[in-house]
Amino acid sequence: MSRRPIVIANWKMNKLPSEVSQYIQYVAPKLDGYSNVDAVLAGQDVLLNTMVMAAKDTSIEIGAENMYWQDKGAYTGETSPRALADLGISKVIIGHSERRNYFRETDEMVNLKTLAALRNGVEPIIAIDEAVQLSSLNDHAHWIVNQVVESLKGVTEQEMSRILLAYEPTAAIGSGQAMTPVDAQKSLRIIRQTVADMFNQNIADRVRILYGGSVKPANAYDLLKQPDIDGVLVGDAALDATTFLELISLAD
Ligand code: G3P
Repeated sequence: MSRRPIVIANWKMNKLPSEVSQYIQYVAPKLDGYSNVDAVLAGQDVLLNTMVMAAKDTSIEIGAENMYWQDKGAYTGETSPRALADLGISKVIIGHSERRNYFRETDEMVNLKTLAALRNGVEPIIAIDEAVQLSSLNDHAHWIVNQVVESLKGVTEQEMSRILLAYEPTAAIGSGQAMTPVDAQKSLRIIRQTVADMFNQNIADRVRILYGGSVKPANAYDLLKQPDIDGVLVGDAALDATTFLELISLAD
């Protein structure tokens, strides 16, 4: 089963509105040379409108980094999935480990957000973390399986075609030290097997699963070569447009 590779930049809280257009104008025309990979840029809310405008008529997809689970209403300061869809946002990262750790997002919240994104036509990129020191291989597998099961509760077989999963071990995020490709592959295999157990093998074979955590050009190729790694979710390295393009070329 061949799954289309995908490179997603997660700019986190780093870029300014004034920096967005130049990045996109630099990257967009060069993407024409890479037709076998999806390119997604995810930015904080205040950038999204500018990002969508700059990426208009290009192959770049724009994603959000977070959203609330209610469609609309009196929730001051939150971002509604309905507004994201209306703006033309195609994807949203849900349950990033920084959200889980700094903002106490639980598996239940991740599930509510996943369902809300689907309901509103925005594709969720569900992040699976590994935040605790796990003493055994069984604990490790259980931790991962549990997050996948909890976040996908109530998702239908049809909706699974609009979901992406991203495995991001917390220790690898921003540390410069990515997980080894072999270890990352083992975790992604567990995630794919969990999807097969919850739905069926066909759906598991189709769902795209990404690795995130200190991905850079030096390690991307070996990570992407692993049978279950379909893409990469990139923080620091993707702040630079040239490096983002390098990652795209390695995934193509
Ligand atoms: O979502 C991407 C991420 O958390 C990884 O960040 O800076 O280690 O590539 P970084």
